[in-house]
Amino acid sequence: MRLLYRITLVLLISALGANLFADSEEDSATDEALQDSLRLAALDNGIDSIDVSNYPEEMQQYYEVVKEKCTQCHKLSRIINSEFALPGEWKRYVKRMRRKPGSKIKKKHAKKIYKFLVYDSEQRKADLIKIKTAAAGKDAKQKK
Ligand code: HEC
Repeated sequence: MRLLYRITLVLLISALGANLFADSEEDSATDEALQDSLRLAALDNGIDSIDVSNYPEEMQQYYEVVKEKCTQCHKLSRIINSEFALPGEWKRYVKRMRRKPGSKIKKKHAKKIYKFLVYDSEQRKADLIKIKTAAAGKDAKQKK
């Protein structure tokens, strides 16, 4: 009888354990989705235009392309307040956005948008670029 009791106990505990584990995995997926929507909402609710009056003429023209092409699915503020700042980050993201169904962003637009985002990041996010570049350098050293 004691053996049966023990076996039952072990089975119960492992079932409970498995159940807890499954639940926590589900929770963390929900948490991640929530975090992501909160993050996007924070970007969307930030400043919604850039003062480009001191930017070179060419960049001012490219800004118009960004405003036209990149606001079809979300606000411009999502881009303006984004934490992307490095050329590589913008390259990857402009590509990703261009590939979204119905984006209507041609290659010639993508190039201008990319150039603007890189230039604008250099103006407004110089500190962020420094931090990111330093972090990337550290990573590279650690990998050696
Ligand atoms: C066809 C719809 C669509 C267009 C057009 C579009 N986006 Fe997006 N964008 C999305 C969606 C959906 C998300 C959120 C999911 C994701 O990141 O893929 C997003 C998210 C973003 C984010 C936030 C990424 C993050 O997670 O922090 C940035 C930055 C961004 N877009 C930039 C751009 C730029 C720059 C353009 C213009 C080249 C653009 N988007 C055009 C649909 C679009």
